[in-house]
Amino acid sequence: MSELYPAEVIIDPTTGAVSPATGRYAKYLSELSGIFSNSDAWSRAIQDENDPLVYEVIECKQEGSDLFFGTTTMQPGKIGEEFYMTRGHFHEDRTKGEVYCTLSGQGLLLLEDRQGCCSTVEMRKGSIAFIPPDWAHRSINCGPIPLVFTWVCSVAAGHDYGQILQRGMRKLIVEREGEIEVVTNPKFD
Ligand code: F6R
Ligand code: ZN
Repeated sequence: MSELYPAEVIIDPTTGAVSPATGRYAKYLSELSGIFSNSDAWSRAIQDENDPLVYEVIECKQEGSDLFFGTTTMQPGKIGEEFYMTRGHFHEDRTKGEVYCTLSGQGLLLLEDRQGCCSTVEMRKGSIAFIPPDWAHRSINCGPIPLVFTWVCSVAAGHDYGQILQRGMRKLIVEREGEIEVVTNPKFD
């Protein structure tokens, strides 16, 4: 194991920029196939809006550390009655949880355990969401500005996207008549 040293890392709370960063990726709408319920609205938005950016993840990982952290910055937007959201995942290592700290914007963190128990945690500036081990988690930007949050996780956690990608999550976050609602995903009715 390499030797580890204390470090200061600067995070811009409105853009999610991380300095220094060790990795990053972006997800554009065309890469989120099967995530949104309304696939016609999804295809139309890719065409009409020229495949917009949905979210970007920037990480800072010290080689040899058991923990790493980073930011996720989610653009505002909607597909049909659903807001822009992340893919959602369980961790590969079922013993590893995670912490999300919201820096700007507003949204919801949707969680679900293996038995189908569902929960939401509000995401707003200064709020910290605790994600217990073996709960799937997906973040949703319900507001008009970018939703920026810092996450802190075990390096060993890994991502398991399979189940959420195949079946979706049991709850959907939708906007109906100007109200944000948590509704049952018809696939689970
Ligand atoms: C890491 C984690 C976040 C998400 C990121 C993108 O365990 O929860 O860094 O990976 O917010 O979400 P996904 O990975 O679901 O597309
Ligand atoms: Zn995670």
